[in-house]
Amino acid sequence: MSHLSKSRSLVSVPDLARFKAQGRPIVMTTAYDAPTARIADAAGVDSILVGDSLGNVCLGFENTLPVTLDMMLHHLQAVVRAHPRALLLADMPYLSYHIGVEDTLRNGGAFLRAGAQGVKLEGGSGRIPMVRALVGAEIPVMCHLGLTPQSIHAMGGYKVQAKDGQAALALLEDALRLQDAGCFAILLEGIPAELATKVTGALEIPTIGIGAGPGCSGQVLVFHDLLGILPGDPPKFVRQYLEGYNLMVEAMSNWANDIREGDFPGPAESYMLPEATRKLLNAWAPPENQAPKPRT
Ligand code: KIV
Repeated sequence: MSHLSKSRSLVSVPDLARFKAQGRPIVMTTAYDAPTARIADAAGVDSILVGDSLGNVCLGFENTLPVTLDMMLHHLQAVVRAHPRALLLADMPYLSYHIGVEDTLRNGGAFLRAGAQGVKLEGGSGRIPMVRALVGAEIPVMCHLGLTPQSIHAMGGYKVQAKDGQAALALLEDALRLQDAGCFAILLEGIPAELATKVTGALEIPTIGIGAGPGCSGQVLVFHDLLGILPGDPPKFVRQYLEGYNLMVEAMSNWANDIREGDFPGPAESYMLPEATRKLLNAWAPPENQAPKPRT
């Protein structure tokens, strides 16, 4: 097969830079399995991230720290089997890129081998050696600055970051250094909108915002947040486009009621016998010697 033939994914890493240059906002969401990937892809998003939010959104953990490389690869593979046309990225989980460059390369390569087109990792200029190594091994990298959930304990909780002058300048400088190190985009999470706009203007590469205001090159929201699938009030930066949780609970209760009232399954949901077999069954009676004994 020619390397120039059409590949599975129609959106590529370089496309994101092109979208920024064209002033076309980039649309990204998360997916964790084949059905969520199909929904996102059918909606025409530009990029799907198999995020390590997998941990708290799908696996019932309190945060992303318990998510392992194996868990990420398992869910990435399910998304790959949906054959999305969107650019497919995956989060490198906690401790998969912190130990050393060699370990980072091995782990990053596992994502590409499993079908991702690039990886995302959290952190500032401390990650430059890892970013350079990954890019040098042809593994496209998206960096993640601001509120980085894997630093929850260091940050003291999920709080808006870089509000004071020094932290804002440090973030801007980190973004420029990570761009120099070769990352293809930077995700900005939980930072003031004006700072995100400034960073986006200072960079050639695109930024993707979440809780970072409208001035980024694109936006990402977690699938379950934007469709309202999780119970409770969403964070301020989320706009819910569906009351998924309430709608699903209502639908499931209707089904349960139908069963309890003998209304499900009905003829439409049942397989019926052909006429000849029905007649045969109706005419059948147990042989004399096997007839059930009358009760005394
Ligand atoms: O894991 C995740 O869902 C993320 C979000 C910021 C999109 O990284």
